[in-house]
Amino acid sequence: MGVEDNKKRAALEALKWVHDARIIGVGTGSTINHFIDALGDIKGRLDGVVSSSEASTLRLKAAGIPVLDLNAAGELPVYVDGADEANRHLQLIKGGGGALTREKIVAAVSKRFVCIVDDSKLVQVLGGFPLPVEVIPMARSHVARELVKLGGRPDWRQGFITDNGNVILDVHGLSIIDPPHLESEINQITGVVCVGIFARRPADVLLVGAAHGVQTLP
Ligand code: A5P
Repeated sequence: MGVEDNKKRAALEALKWVHDARIIGVGTGSTINHFIDALGDIKGRLDGVVSSSEASTLRLKAAGIPVLDLNAAGELPVYVDGADEANRHLQLIKGGGGALTREKIVAAVSKRFVCIVDDSKLVQVLGGFPLPVEVIPMARSHVARELVKLGGRPDWRQGFITDNGNVILDVHGLSIIDPPHLESEINQITGVVCVGIFARRPADVLLVGAAHGVQTLP
């Protein structure tokens, strides 16, 4: 039983939270890929899905699931997505796959955000995972200097361009004691498009897949 099994357990559990929703939001990453695969079995119940990345869009279409424009879909009843780290307040670090901006937008318009992780991602304090920050390319050095002032060690994710045409700085060395505060502080830096702290709008439900089963928080 490995990490992949635990991701899959959490993903299958998330199906129960879809209930009778006709349109749902779907995130990005290896954990969500298990969810998309399972969604294929119940696609007849759905009008469609709002996707948080080009990668998920491709997988959804391959499974025969219609992908909808968020502007036409309106408010979503439920959004299912993974995370890179989660704490017991359901605050998250996201963006390891670089899709953080669209993920934060879909989370913002969703009534219930169901986050699915394997148990290795549950931490006391966020920041062990380098914090992704999406940045307008010409502001990269400026934002990096500002992040150093906040105590981080930003590392340019070279060769990677987001779906929105921007770059990512992965910030090492942060111990994020007050996630909503740091989220706001980094959001204030000119040139930042989005920071991968999801604390002002945390998850509503966290499904933690482990060898012994799935724990539901809170
Ligand atoms: C994508 O940008 C991320 O926010 C993912 O949700 C996160 O990286 C989790 O990915 P895995 O499920 O692949 O670990």
